[in-house]
Amino acid sequence: MSWYQDESLWEVFYDCMFDQASFDLAKQQCPQILEMVGHPVSNMLDLACGPGRHLLGFASFGIDVTGVDLSGYLLSHAANHFEQEQVAGTLVHSDMLAYEPKQKFDLITNLFTSFGYYPEANDNQKVLNQAYQWLNKGGSLVIDTFGKEQLAHTMEPVHLTEYDNGDLRVERPLLINNMRVFANEWILIRGNEAFRREYQHFVYSAQEMETMLSLAGFEDIRIYGSFEGDEYDLSCERLIAVAQK
Ligand SMILES: C[S@@+](CC[C@H](N)C(=O)[O-])C[C@H]1O[C@@H](n2cnc3c(N)ncnc32)[C@H](O)[C@@H]1O
Repeated sequence: MSWYQDESLWEVFYDCMFDQASFDLAKQQCPQILEMVGHPVSNMLDLACGPGRHLLGFASFGIDVTGVDLSGYLLSHAANHFEQEQVAGTLVHSDMLAYEPKQKFDLITNLFTSFGYYPEANDNQKVLNQAYQWLNKGGSLVIDTFGKEQLAHTMEPVHLTEYDNGDLRVERPLLINNMRVFANEWILIRGNEAFRREYQHFVYSAQEMETMLSLAGFEDIRIYGSFEGDEYDLSCERLIAVAQK
């Protein structure tokens, strides 16, 4: 079993990864994404949608939303949010490479570092190839992850995050396999308990991301360092790729 198939990871870390502030932030990011793509969007697909944070945001613009995720646990959270906010949308419990959409989309997203998880490098390329096939002509793919350059620039041997609910998360990150792979260890300290998990995924430079998108068939490829559209450089915190079919 790969680390991302382990439901207990999402269960243990849910409260700190997907707190209310993260839902509020996702709602802010949706109009920023629509502005970045710069064309009308009537339907969208969020690949690896997790608890549906962005689906809720896009639905508030009247967009027909579909989310695919491997975690039944996270999808149950998404379903609860849909019910609470009376959002009509489609949630699909599937590996994103096994998903078979019944329609094409104006926008496909993959957000909050959900790319590069497949241990076989070519499977990550396949995600881009499929997204290209599933887009309408003129539609866009948006990937939000962190970039290899910024990671190498800012990585500390040990990093500590303190959450509003009192949880502490200790991280011990590494760049391994000739800096192709980001390997991290998370230790969550909650009260008197500690939970430890390890994960690893591919991490890409802006140039590598551009090459992969181009191989998938995308033509207009732009890389930003934030949802505000800042330049991608060593001062930024994200790598955001916008690619049009
Ligand atoms: C860091 S979370 C991000 C969730 C969501 N995009 C967000 O912004 O809240 C990564 C997500 O990727 C999903 N995931 C990982 N591998 C997947 C796969 N092969 N197919 C579908 N979903 C996958 C996980 O279940 C999890 O929901």
